[in-house]
Amino acid sequence: GVQSVGKLPVLGFNTWNAFQCNIDQDIMLQQASLMKSLGLQAAGYNYINIDDCYAEKNRTASGDIQEDKIRFSRGMRNLTDTLHAQGFKAGIYGDAGWTTCGGYPGSYSHEEADAKTFREKWGFDYLKYDNCAIPFDNITQEGTYGRYKRMSDAIQNLAKRSHKLPMIFSLCDWGWQQVNLWGAEFGQSWRTTGDIAPNWDSLAHIININSFIASSTHFYGHNDLDMLQLGNGNMTYEESKSHFTVWALMKSPLFIGTNLSSITPEILGILKNKDILAINQDPVWGEGITPFRWGINPDWTFNATHPAEYWSGRSQNGTVVMMLNSQNVEAEMSFNLTESAWIRAGRQYKVYDLWAHTQTEIAVRSITKRVPPHGVVAMLLSDAGQEPAGLYPACSVWW
Ligand code: DGJ
Repeated sequence: GVQSVGKLPVLGFNTWNAFQCNIDQDIMLQQASLMKSLGLQAAGYNYINIDDCYAEKNRTASGDIQEDKIRFSRGMRNLTDTLHAQGFKAGIYGDAGWTTCGGYPGSYSHEEADAKTFREKWGFDYLKYDNCAIPFDNITQEGTYGRYKRMSDAIQNLAKRSHKLPMIFSLCDWGWQQVNLWGAEFGQSWRTTGDIAPNWDSLAHIININSFIASSTHFYGHNDLDMLQLGNGNMTYEESKSHFTVWALMKSPLFIGTNLSSITPEILGILKNKDILAINQDPVWGEGITPFRWGINPDWTFNATHPAEYWSGRSQNGTVVMMLNSQNVEAEMSFNLTESAWIRAGRQYKVYDLWAHTQTEIAVRSITKRVPPHGVVAMLLSDAGQEPAGLYPACSVWW
């Protein structure tokens, strides 16, 4: 069933942010081989996913979706076989309407046949399902929910018939119809916003929107903050680090979206941060971090330009805490430990910095850090025992 696959956020590569419609089989294989040689596959990024624009504009005479005969001349099955032989899983893309956003065939009313093509004929393990060119709701009465249910049912029925695991189903419905409340009925992740752009304003907007619904992420399903833009546009190093940290700690799927043939060592280093990836892939706790204070933005709204700045959540090794500086200048950021729901008063905490990869201090009551503009501090706090007697006389009487 829906809950048999994809419990942890999926890590991989997707073509869209780097290549848009300029894709072909050679680019797929080139990027896959770079995923390997750059150590990204070893770091856990094991999905190679094709986005929009791989198909012929028309279906075959018998109604089947078909790959572009020039750009994918060896056929999709050949591509997935090659990727599988290299130890990757493979992802494909479809659309819940009449056409994809790029104008290629959509799967509305072809769900059963297309699921079969993607899974059985072509051998894909993952389907991202877009939301363009949808039929009129006042005629079909189905809504976004109904259209995503159609494809989810097709995927599940096919899996049952073939006694194989279902494709991972990634709902790309841009947050419509409060998908965070029902996406897990049908798939393993759901997009919560429109498309990401490679700049700070876009990141801040996405972080802000997702801060309100962070708790919808759980063990069986994840808010999808959209594919990574690391390496694209003109984000600063600190902004790139913040981008990756927030996406990972909120347990979004993480799809690398830059052309790997020109990736810089700095960006590669960010993507390979083992400590951050370990939180994203924490096998015990499904939920991501949630805000516990809204920082410099006192009257937060969906349109706020400053997202929440103080966040925390659980992991198997302790409490994750993140401070995000949404200001354009360096800031001294500080919080009392007990502001986080996951921290117990009267205890000492070892503070491990997830970017410095070292223990920085033992914290008792509060933590203060200088954070660069649009920068982030991410920490793992683990219990180091009861605080020394006498340090807080007013409290020690309770213990
Ligand atoms: C809209 C989606 O949100 C994007 O991620 C991408 O898949 C494009 N469509 C492709 O047309």
